[in-house]
Amino acid sequence: MELKKIKIGIVGAGVWGETHASIYKEHLFADLVSICDKNEERARAIAEKYGIKEVYTDYREMAEKSDIDAVAIVTPDFLHADIAVEFANHGKAMLIEKPLATTKEDIARICEAVKKNGVRCMVDLHNRWNPPFNKAKQEVESGKLGTPYTAYIRHSDIKWVATDMLSWSAKSSILWFLGSHSLDTLRWMFDDDVKRVYSVKKTGILKKLGVDTPDIFLTTIEFNKGGVAQMENGWITPNGNTNVNDFKFSILCTEGMISLDLSSHNLIHEVTEERAYTPDILVSNYVFDRCKGLSYESIRDFVDRLVDGKEFRVTLEDARKTALAIIAINESAETGMPVEVEY
Ligand SMILES: NC(=O)c1ccc[n+]([C@@H]2O[C@H](COP(=O)([O-])OP(=O)(O)OC[C@H]3O[C@@H](n4cnc5c(N)ncnc54)[C@H](O)[C@@H]3O)[C@@H](O)[C@H]2O)c1
Repeated sequence: MELKKIKIGIVGAGVWGETHASIYKEHLFADLVSICDKNEERARAIAEKYGIKEVYTDYREMAEKSDIDAVAIVTPDFLHADIAVEFANHGKAMLIEKPLATTKEDIARICEAVKKNGVRCMVDLHNRWNPPFNKAKQEVESGKLGTPYTAYIRHSDIKWVATDMLSWSAKSSILWFLGSHSLDTLRWMFDDDVKRVYSVKKTGILKKLGVDTPDIFLTTIEFNKGGVAQMENGWITPNGNTNVNDFKFSILCTEGMISLDLSSHNLIHEVTEERAYTPDILVSNYVFDRCKGLSYESIRDFVDRLVDGKEFRVTLEDARKTALAIIAINESAETGMPVEVEY
């Protein structure tokens, strides 16, 4: 029996575009057909490494000419909308990297184009595939802990991500980069929409290092049904931290509590003459030659859902509401006032 494969293209051949390429290459039901990047050298390098036949430097040309069923949009946070609208108008299914978009206008443009063209769209809010979080969700959902009451999440990065890893960090923020994941996780755990947010940000450390973006956001989040959460997202954890992420979570329910520590756990700990280290076994690791870790699972799931036709586990509505709540948090941190989220 011949397998019907989903023909896929990627726009954005950067760090995360390569993550997408590696999983599509491995997926039995995916055929990685094309790649596009403004930087031709980068696109060609990824094409050669993963055996991708078609290389483009203009996403419009790729949307027009490439015979694909689906596209992954893996450009910087604030450069998703034009590309998404173009591919939606060409009838392609889309996996858009998080966040969906960073302005109300761009969010609305994407949602309208998806609706008008009747295309399928998922946003890669991948923490739902994180095994400890997924287990916590199952436990909360079972009802045995009662009703979610309060929660705390800390999802921060070492400075290096802002100063060295991303070339565009000054045009985005830790709130978009990791806050999107934190907020999606909280919405999912509380099974509720954010009503009001109050955030305080601090600025100065990264500015001194030449990156003009806030250091940290400390945010209180109120949900419609009464749940309250506190969310901390910073880009200034010391570079000597044993893990790139500093990732903690706890949820207090009316009859129980769950706590997670994903970055300084004791499952694996490596020490050399230079430093102590917590190797990644959850996010983007390999077991033998197979992609493992939550960042591959969400992308794999996108293909699976295109094959079986079932609903995506993160809906476009989830991503739209998450992005709008992040905009409200930015506004609150700017004005010093609580802000009601406008949907
Ligand atoms: N799911 C996750 O947790 C996760 C992790 C890392 C990055 N990301 C997201 O992935 C996206 C990309 O991040 P990255 O780290 O790979 O960035 P990157 O800078 O390494 O790569 C982005 C690439 O997009 C290309 N590009 C920009 N505009 C383009 C255009 N109009 N047409 C074609 N190519 C264009 C750039 O030349 C660059 O090569 C961001 O939205 C980021 O938030 C998600």
